[in-house]
Amino acid sequence: MKALGVEVNLENIGDPVAKGERIPSWMKEIISRLAMEDCSYSYCPSKGLLETREFLAARNNTNGGPRISADDIVFFNGLGDAIAKVYGFLRTTARVICPSPTYTTHSSAEAAHAGTRPIWYPLDPQNKWYPDLEELRNRVKYNPAVSGILVVNPDNPTGAVYPVRVLKEIIAIAEEFDLFIVADEIYRNIVYNGHETMPLSAVIGDVPGISMKGISKELPWPGSRCGWIEVYNSQKDPHFAKYVESIVNAKMVEVCSTTLPQKAIPRILEHPGYEAFLDGRRRRYERFSEIAYNTLKKVDGVITNRTNGAFYVTVAFEKDRLNHQQRLPIGDKGVERLVEELCAAPGMEPDKRFVYYLIGAAGLCVVPLSSFNTDLQGFRFTLLEQSELKFRKTMETLATSIEEYLESTAAGSSLPRRVMTTQ
Ligand SMILES: Cc1ncc(COP(=O)(O)O)c(C=O)c1O
Repeated sequence: MKALGVEVNLENIGDPVAKGERIPSWMKEIISRLAMEDCSYSYCPSKGLLETREFLAARNNTNGGPRISADDIVFFNGLGDAIAKVYGFLRTTARVICPSPTYTTHSSAEAAHAGTRPIWYPLDPQNKWYPDLEELRNRVKYNPAVSGILVVNPDNPTGAVYPVRVLKEIIAIAEEFDLFIVADEIYRNIVYNGHETMPLSAVIGDVPGISMKGISKELPWPGSRCGWIEVYNSQKDPHFAKYVESIVNAKMVEVCSTTLPQKAIPRILEHPGYEAFLDGRRRRYERFSEIAYNTLKKVDGVITNRTNGAFYVTVAFEKDRLNHQQRLPIGDKGVERLVEELCAAPGMEPDKRFVYYLIGAAGLCVVPLSSFNTDLQGFRFTLLEQSELKFRKTMETLATSIEEYLESTAAGSSLPRRVMTTQ
């Protein structure tokens, strides 16, 4: 579409730097000083630099949960790498139940390890995108293959932040059915709107668990390819201890992960400018989440929740509101033809069709919700735009595009909803 002259506003990718986030000069100075030290160019220990793991363990140990040491931390080349290893070394028949919708790197890696489809529990758009805990409990209870529960908090794609009560209930389910927890906490310090949550380690008690953390979103430095896992209560269960050992052994074979970003972590997190920098970003996401919510909550036919963490908003279409006759007017004939061709692909999801029309007609690129391992229809966009004026305009465009698209067929035949057969 760009080649046909459409100016595309990319609201689809969770990379703050690509969306214009400026890296403060004190952070660049720390990194450039490290780049002048020869030791930044060497391998580091397989689990990661000892001083950085000690620093991170000490930070974790202030929250009153199970104490960890540097030995309980393993670095990876980004969380993408950690996710592949964590599921890849699980016994094929042991399953981790994932939220739906979810960040598909998790659900795809988990499904790939088992050679089948993801097992999932629903997040409820009618209840702030919190997990349906009764469903989770039932799906765990009646599926003996489930060995672990994945929690993404704050969540991608929904922007939900789970209250402590919800986390405790998930942990209680894990305890009752002898499961471990995987918590993706990459957005843990991007929480706003006065929302309160807790890290997994503060509420996990005696349940074995793995927390995944990283610097892609928070510093933000996604190009560093640097993330880590923290393992809690590894000695409380011999099966879990063996599983963790196999993940560590895999890292040994690989030698190690990126050295320079690991060196930078304590220096950046302890810098006097760090908190103010992060706080400024949080305040911007908070303001933009408010603008998005206030604009889209008035739109008929969709469910919009206020985002309280991370930097995404997910909007769900109400059931049966989409059909394959709906469209948006596209001025350019070539672009219109291209959109029609794309939308004619077999098995086209209705929300993906909406997204193609949105790009063609309004130059706005978002992600169809159906691509996040869910049978819900909708889309996700980011709060990463730097200009408030441009963001307000984008939200207005989005609101009018949804209205126009839904109204474009008076009596469109509703589509059969895709059935997920993952259990
Ligand atoms: C929930 C979640 N986990 C992990 C990642 C990937 O992080 P990394 O850049 O460390 O691979 C992302 C990236 O969008 C994410 O949203």
